[in-house]
Amino acid sequence: MNKEIGLAPMAGYTDRVMRELAIEWGADFVFSEMISTEGIVRSTGKTGEIVPVEPCRIQLFGADVKNMVDAAKKLLDVATWFDINSGCPVRKVVKRGAGSALLKIPERIASMITSLKGVVSVPVSVKIRIGIDKRESDRIIAPILKARPDAVFIHGRTVIQGYSGRADWQEIDRLAHLLHAEGISVYGSGDMFTPAAIANALEECAVDGVIVARGAIGNPWIFKQAKDFIRGRSYMELTLDERLNHFMIHLRRLADTVGEEQAIRDLRKSFAGYTRGIRDSAKLRNEYMKLQSFSEVREFLRSNSNVSGRIA
Ligand SMILES: Cc1cc2nc3c(=O)[nH]c(=O)nc-3n(C[C@H](O)[C@H](O)[C@H](O)COP(=O)(O)O)c2cc1C
Repeated sequence: MNKEIGLAPMAGYTDRVMRELAIEWGADFVFSEMISTEGIVRSTGKTGEIVPVEPCRIQLFGADVKNMVDAAKKLLDVATWFDINSGCPVRKVVKRGAGSALLKIPERIASMITSLKGVVSVPVSVKIRIGIDKRESDRIIAPILKARPDAVFIHGRTVIQGYSGRADWQEIDRLAHLLHAEGISVYGSGDMFTPAAIANALEECAVDGVIVARGAIGNPWIFKQAKDFIRGRSYMELTLDERLNHFMIHLRRLADTVGEEQAIRDLRKSFAGYTRGIRDSAKLRNEYMKLQSFSEVREFLRSNSNVSGRIA
């Protein structure tokens, strides 16, 4: 199967280290966090911690076509791909007419695609949801089909669903057929939490690939596990000690860029992923919240090093 498994864009998570780990564990591609086109256009250089310095697929969010193009022009030397965020439900983004607000005016999305394609030589895609308060994908994709992006990423939920309920993979499959008829690639998103779920989506659905979001947080080996599962219907689980060792690797690499204290704080969110399935994991997480230095983290991990006996 030549279908791809990528790391989804996730604000606050898919920084350089998470992208590197995903690639090392077999992700076929990775995306940056969403980056504000206004921020890029206003800044004098390529300021902003979240703008990648290495070649990377970049996701942009913004409401204005010209800003989208101008931002892309400033990122030409690092971008290997541009994606237009048209699915973010966060109030602060929607209020500015960006993210999922664009789903109300898909003609604007189409215009962004056409304009970007006019100035960049790398692929251009858009990431959408299947509706705002109800399923209305046909209205949304009609202008997009005409603008002919290289790919469409479809999160199988409506905007008001947020991240709850189940993603509608039947709808993703239906849209994949429509988009393929125009030569546009399709990647599905939603509930890619296990190797079996990924394998199932790739096998049952007409997509060219899937992107993994929450399922990759504190769990970057999911890409390798999914590929092993697709090949042989089984995969290796990491022991809890191995998972904590990998957490430490993640922490050290992040500290190289942002410093120890910041890295320890930033990884509080991901620690939950690395410790999923451990009995008393809530207690462990609460204890982690209080740690401030590497020596404290090391001591904490050492004193919990027999966690293998604590699988819930
Ligand atoms: C914390 C978080 C941040 C996210 N940030 C972005 C983002 O910056 N851009 C985007 O297109 N989608 C973003 N998403 C949506 C994911 O890319 C994905 O489509 C969604 O989580 C569904 O996949 P899942 O059910 O496998 O998590 C985010 C999701 C989460 C949970």
